[in-house]
Amino acid sequence: MAMLKGRRIILGITGSIAAYKSAFLVRELVRAGAEVRVVMTPGAREFITPLTLGTLSGNPVHSELTDDREAGTWTDHVELGLWGDVILVAPATAHTISGMVEGRGDTLLLTVLLSAKCPVVVAPAMDRDMFTHPATTSNIEKLRNRGVHVIEPDEGELASGLEGKGRLADPVRIREELASWFQNRCPLMGYRILITAGPTHEPLDAVRFIGNRSSGRQGVAIAMELARRGAIVDLIAGPMEQTADPPAIIRHDIETALDMQVAALETLRGSPPDVIIGTAAVSDVRPANPIEGKAAKVDLPNHIELVENPDILSDLNASAPDGCFKIGFALAHDDGLEAAIRKRERKGCDLIVLNSLADKGAGFGHTTNRVRFVYGHDRIDSFELKSKEAVAIDLAEVIQAKLLERTPFASEPTD
Ligand code: C5P
Repeated sequence: MAMLKGRRIILGITGSIAAYKSAFLVRELVRAGAEVRVVMTPGAREFITPLTLGTLSGNPVHSELTDDREAGTWTDHVELGLWGDVILVAPATAHTISGMVEGRGDTLLLTVLLSAKCPVVVAPAMDRDMFTHPATTSNIEKLRNRGVHVIEPDEGELASGLEGKGRLADPVRIREELASWFQNRCPLMGYRILITAGPTHEPLDAVRFIGNRSSGRQGVAIAMELARRGAIVDLIAGPMEQTADPPAIIRHDIETALDMQVAALETLRGSPPDVIIGTAAVSDVRPANPIEGKAAKVDLPNHIELVENPDILSDLNASAPDGCFKIGFALAHDDGLEAAIRKRERKGCDLIVLNSLADKGAGFGHTTNRVRFVYGHDRIDSFELKSKEAVAIDLAEVIQAKLLERTPFASEPTD
């Protein structure tokens, strides 16, 4: 049950006689702690009313592309599509399945499916001969090849009087299959990750600052990969262009190292993380006496007194819960291995991800990176030059292996 807790499910209901079972399905999902928003095709409304589904789901039901014809407002299918962690189409008719294959947009549900970025699960329901028709078989195969998960219909008596495969899977089975699908697809569900990313800007005055060329790209790639695997990620983000907006990423935007320290420590106390990752290029120093407002050119000082910034990762590691997996980054200008080994100990990290400016294509500003995972003198894993997204996958694999050895701090046991 816990797998579905807090999950946002868009339930697409299409015009099959089995639509009446959707009422039980909504109840099952809501009982399991999911948030459900129903999108019905006009055909589905012939079989069950929006009032029933709206009452059971606790959310308004949508079925038309236009919300209110008189007022000229439309249903925001893009917003709806981006809201969900998954779209479950149950029952899915041959008609909607073929519309999905062709990418048609003639119902609100099909437009939501076209706009959505989240995964899709379908539970077909139709008469036996329709289900076994080569057109349907081939359409379902095409959806599978696109990554759509199919919950097979049950065998038994059908509304037409025929016997065979085509009955909508029982709502309890749909709920269970959805939960185990989430579990497989999102192995890090229930784990909480705290990541610092990007540069910090240290003000000289209201418009000038000391900063660095960090793009935040590596940190955001890691945040996205871990969120994709189901973790909730607190991203403490310095000023950067990168976007990271899936719902599982909670983004805390900050400017300075001191702001980053406050935001990171508050987050750590409020939501104890299972993993801490310091990818941020925190400015080592800040101007001791930033000037209020914008200083005129003539008033700019000849010398700027600098003070050292706090070491945020060390602070986080020192306050981390027992068993938290702690990862730091090190950008070296030379080989940097010995320094990385010392840095790991000094900062209280389990692992240092070392990249060197001496490697072509690695470090700030590039879309690629070449890293070594430094666990200590006796264990160093070296990787080839690859995209920062691929580095994020390598790191996520290590994190996942580590986390799955134990239960998360943040969540209840999963089913
Ligand atoms: O000491 P150095 O800057 O090389 O350490 C790099 C690692 O420490 C990175 O993980 C970085 O995010 C973190 N760090 C920090 N606060 C600082 C300096 C570095 O969190 N003031």
